[in-house]
Amino acid sequence: MTADNILGSIRQDTRDFLAKPLKLLIGGRWVDAVSGKTFPVYDPGTGRQIASVAEADAADVDRAVAAARAAFESKAWRDMKACDRERLLHRLADLIEANADQLAELESLDNGKSVMMARHLDIVAAVDFIRYMAGWPTKNEGATIPVSMPYVPDGKFFAYTQREPVGVVGQIIPWNFPLLMAAWKLAPALAAGCATILKPAEQTPVTALRIGELILEAGFPEGVVNILPGYGHTAGAAIAAHAGIDKVAFTGSTEVGRLITQAAMGNLKKVTLELGGKSPAIVLDDADLDIAIPGAAMAIFFNQGQVCAAGSRLYVHKSIFDKVIDGVAGAAKQFSIGHGLSPTTQMGPLVSEEQVKRVCGYIDGGLADGAKAVVGGRRLDQPGYFVEPTVLVNTQPSMKVVQEEIFGPVVVAMPYSDLDEVVAAANNSIYGLAASIWTRDVSKVHRIAPALKAGTVWVNCHGLVDAAMPFGGYKQSGWGRELGKAAIDGYTETKSVCLAY
Ligand code: NAI
Ligand code: MG
Repeated sequence: MTADNILGSIRQDTRDFLAKPLKLLIGGRWVDAVSGKTFPVYDPGTGRQIASVAEADAADVDRAVAAARAAFESKAWRDMKACDRERLLHRLADLIEANADQLAELESLDNGKSVMMARHLDIVAAVDFIRYMAGWPTKNEGATIPVSMPYVPDGKFFAYTQREPVGVVGQIIPWNFPLLMAAWKLAPALAAGCATILKPAEQTPVTALRIGELILEAGFPEGVVNILPGYGHTAGAAIAAHAGIDKVAFTGSTEVGRLITQAAMGNLKKVTLELGGKSPAIVLDDADLDIAIPGAAMAIFFNQGQVCAAGSRLYVHKSIFDKVIDGVAGAAKQFSIGHGLSPTTQMGPLVSEEQVKRVCGYIDGGLADGAKAVVGGRRLDQPGYFVEPTVLVNTQPSMKVVQEEIFGPVVVAMPYSDLDEVVAAANNSIYGLAASIWTRDVSKVHRIAPALKAGTVWVNCHGLVDAAMPFGGYKQSGWGRELGKAAIDGYTETKSVCLAY
């Protein structure tokens, strides 16, 4: 199927959405940027422009902050009953579900990922997460505290805590799971009662804008959600630095996480960060290889390796190293690579030309340093941003390809001899987002899991996240946790109230 045939078959409502002027959502209305500027959005499967989007900058951030502040203080939002907030979130989830086919196509065209994955994973997970978060407004309880105050001998006191929304929040998200990341940010903020300014990544603003329409349709009060597509160094930096924003939540590179933390210092806004990773997948000598081999392959190649928790360092016991590497390389050869909208595509393109250059730069650097590609290693010679799934061996721990996040379909595979050695190697990273252990021996799991410096440890699976399970990083992989109750904690302040009687 040629790209033209594929693109000829897209839904009319997808076509219509992309053809209209895509604007900023501020205060419940769709508006042009103050500057009047727009920026282009490309289909990674062809490299062709698919849409033009209003480009927010600092002046638009000012407007959005004013709208969000007014919404946050408004009776309509501040005094909304918890059960009504729950209803709104459920309505949003229902609307996303009702528009899932269109959203999946938009996501595939914008990001490059397989439309099947978008439909059955990204969107299903986003809907499930919003529904999970819809349960929290009515359960966001404080506590009664048995205070003693020993220095007030005759005093009697009653103390309790309340969870209050942190205020106006800025949310800056990446391009690898555009719609799902928007859901991860918006749902807990809304469940907690915050007002938000969401900045999608410049590579993938489209589904966030469609979600903005659905948010209005669901009936959220105007200004509670503002959506500002734009670049990081302009709109993103303005959000991070803005004195009118109480918290910034960021997902993206560790480098930008540092910039955001610095910018946030001005008004000491709260910061949560979900950053990069170089997560180890550790295959023990007793592993069930029928599970471990496809598992290790999916750990790195899912979403073209553009996953913060990707299993990008593969440690395999030396007794089974060749067998596992053959298996993972075999899986890499079998993937059908193509345009995301083709129903047979298993691996799509990377998100951008820039990302292809970055990933190929790492591969070339690794090969120059002495690594060997068992499979892959090159860009595909066709339009679009395609890179072959790649397995590198003969690496050294000090090599860049072993130390740095590549964020593409590239795994470095290394043999090891004993458990202490592999745990030390796995922890030899500035990152600590996740890890996986592949074994049939539960006692080994209990030895290794506590020793791994990682926010999530999977056993005989990798990369599975759930609405209810906290997700986030040790070390330079981030601050705070998303998902689960932990996400609500990140959008609330605890107020202690103490009565003397
Ligand atoms: P990035 O960290 O630059 O972009 C992520 C988001 O941050 C985007 O919305 C961007 O507009 C915004 N941003 C960029 N500079 C900013 C600034 N100075 N202030 C505020 N916001 C800013 O990531 P990029 O450049 O797209 O990818 C570079 C590398 O980052 C990737 O190769 C990968 O290693 C890592 N990355 C990690 C992600 C994760 O899920 N942890 C997601 C995306 C990228
Ligand atoms: Mg960047």
